[in-house]
Amino acid sequence: MKELIKKLVETYGPSGNEDKIRQVIQEEIAGLADEVRTDALGNLIARKRGQNGGKRVMLAAHMDEIGVIVTHVDEKGFLRFGAVGGVWPHTLLGGRVVFANGTVGVIGTEKVEDEERNKVIPLEKLFIDVGAVDKTSVPVQIGDVAGFSRPFADMGKRLVAKAFDDRIGCAVLIQTMRDLKKTPHDVYFVFSVQEEVGLRGAMTSAYGIEPEMGLSVDVTLTGDTPEAQTMAVELGKGPAIKVKDGRMLAHPGVKRLLVETAEAIGIPYQLEVLERGTTDATAIQVSREGVPAGCVSIPCRYVHTPSEMVDYDDVTNAVKLLVAMLEKPIIL
Ligand code: CO
Ligand code: ZN
Repeated sequence: MKELIKKLVETYGPSGNEDKIRQVIQEEIAGLADEVRTDALGNLIARKRGQNGGKRVMLAAHMDEIGVIVTHVDEKGFLRFGAVGGVWPHTLLGGRVVFANGTVGVIGTEKVEDEERNKVIPLEKLFIDVGAVDKTSVPVQIGDVAGFSRPFADMGKRLVAKAFDDRIGCAVLIQTMRDLKKTPHDVYFVFSVQEEVGLRGAMTSAYGIEPEMGLSVDVTLTGDTPEAQTMAVELGKGPAIKVKDGRMLAHPGVKRLLVETAEAIGIPYQLEVLERGTTDATAIQVSREGVPAGCVSIPCRYVHTPSEMVDYDDVTNAVKLLVAMLEKPIIL
């Protein structure tokens, strides 16, 4: 899957600007679904029809990534910017961003006083330098959005990239579509938009699909780095089956189904309790009259920085888990 993963993570696609990444995914899933459509918000929805008797199942992974939006251009051509999604200022200085038209920007800062050297420089003091000599030579405008620019790195077992949140979920969904030869269920693979700004794509797509069960595939935090938060999730210990996050309690039947499936096929798994943050499953769970929902998480270090890290075995095991779950009847 590494070639697919590299392609997905290196593609541009901040929230609200998912055209390019949707195009890439659409090409990757060509011929794998019975129906493919894009809804009014931009969600890419691929349906794999099952034989009768199965459930209507929705799997969601978000295509969008966090980014920055131009708010002001000064006379010398420097850009001020705001955040699109959870962008933290301490991850930015010296970094590079790239706009939809390919314009590269470097993030610089105003003068830092001696007493400020050990403090986080707030967003308001940062600017983007696109290499312009004056205002008229700036190749982007107010409202244009950039994403982090960082190449994929294959460290062997561990992988590093920008936007593993949630292109790794997109990769897992695509590979699941490839490996799932037969299913009794009507399966909708949703590559959603605007998750990072409030689960908006999952909200509308779930309303349209009316699933009988919903799952998101997204990243989760870990507790396995020096002086990390206390959290019982580690890289390489298997995909994490969500029990709870900041906004959702997973449906106990969905959680049990995932646990039983992992045990039946003999893959490692972890139980996830995430104290802050959430996924598309939250929006699915509370759509219409309510949907039994859960989440398969890929453990990820350094989430929402330009260098997010996952374990390759966790990724391939997540695919095995989803394929095995979709191959048999679902009883919640
Ligand atoms: Co995120
Ligand atoms: Zn995410």
